[in-house]
Amino acid sequence: MERIFSSVWDGAKKGNDAVRLFHGRGHCFPGLEFVAVDWFSPLLLVSFFKEPDAVWLEKFVAGLSQFAQSDDIKNIVLQYRYLPGAPSESIQGVLDAEVDAVEDGLRFRLNVQKNQNTGFFLDMKNCRDILRVNADGKTVLNLFSYTCAFSVVAANSGAKLVVNMDMSKGALKTGKLNHSINDIDTRDVFFFAHDIFRSWGKIRKYGPYDYVVVDPPSFQRGSFDARKDYVKIVRKLPELLADNGQVIACLNSPELGFDFLRELFDDVGGFQELEVVATPESFPEVDVEKGLKTLLFKKIAHGAG
Ligand SMILES: C[S@@+](CC[C@H](N)C(=O)[O-])C[C@H]1O[C@@H](n2cnc3c(N)ncnc32)[C@H](O)[C@@H]1O
Repeated sequence: MERIFSSVWDGAKKGNDAVRLFHGRGHCFPGLEFVAVDWFSPLLLVSFFKEPDAVWLEKFVAGLSQFAQSDDIKNIVLQYRYLPGAPSESIQGVLDAEVDAVEDGLRFRLNVQKNQNTGFFLDMKNCRDILRVNADGKTVLNLFSYTCAFSVVAANSGAKLVVNMDMSKGALKTGKLNHSINDIDTRDVFFFAHDIFRSWGKIRKYGPYDYVVVDPPSFQRGSFDARKDYVKIVRKLPELLADNGQVIACLNSPELGFDFLRELFDDVGGFQELEVVATPESFPEVDVEKGLKTLLFKKIAHGAG
């Protein structure tokens, strides 16, 4: 427990950028696998993924009162992610009506009141950086776009065109809002609320793409099952990508490792692995095969090699 509190004191002083302060889920802190603490200045969000022991929770909440003295932490919210609807409880301060994550000067609207996920994935930072650095003048396809964080970063960096696709209308609505709160011109940013597997024609129409982001759920009933559906996406990539186009391929399933992803791309063929995109240091994992895995591939140019 003290380990969590010291991470919070250290982290909240670091500034306004959103960051994970404590990542128990990576199994580096025995007994604390069920806790995550995120810093969305001035909000400290504590997420529980399993019911905490009642005595532990009482002590923990009492311990959090030390942060009332902090100049930086205005709000503390506990979110019970293991309960239906992921209810949350504010234990310090009154939350502003609008809470944003800030990253590299961009804002991303959060919903910490009821959603399973807040709307912004901190562990994707290094993948967003690839677009932040390289998207200028490029075309980008953002599959499983959710609240369009990749799109905000790409468009802000000067992407020529961005296509976002996600079957959740609500997520895309937040995605549009995320562009408007950052004053991003969306004339060349598209938001399609479709099932990807039924929309290849539309996706193809706006291509070919210099960057494709593939960041699906590991399993979502009736919509996506990495084991059998990821390959369907990879098979479409060669015709969607421009020559030398790149794919940011993410896999967040504890049961499927890097080899699963590599084999999919090897079997389809015509790709070169450029790098393993590291997960941010704030997400330590005992076994990297079990955490988020991201590989960057390049489509080998026609006639090359
Ligand atoms: C892990 S989230 C994506 C996170 C996002 N890339 C980000 O960085 O914020 C997965 C998303 O996939 C979407 N999804 C799942 N199956 C889908 C399908 N068959 N077609 C379109 N979207 C799908 C869900 O609605 C959800 O928003």
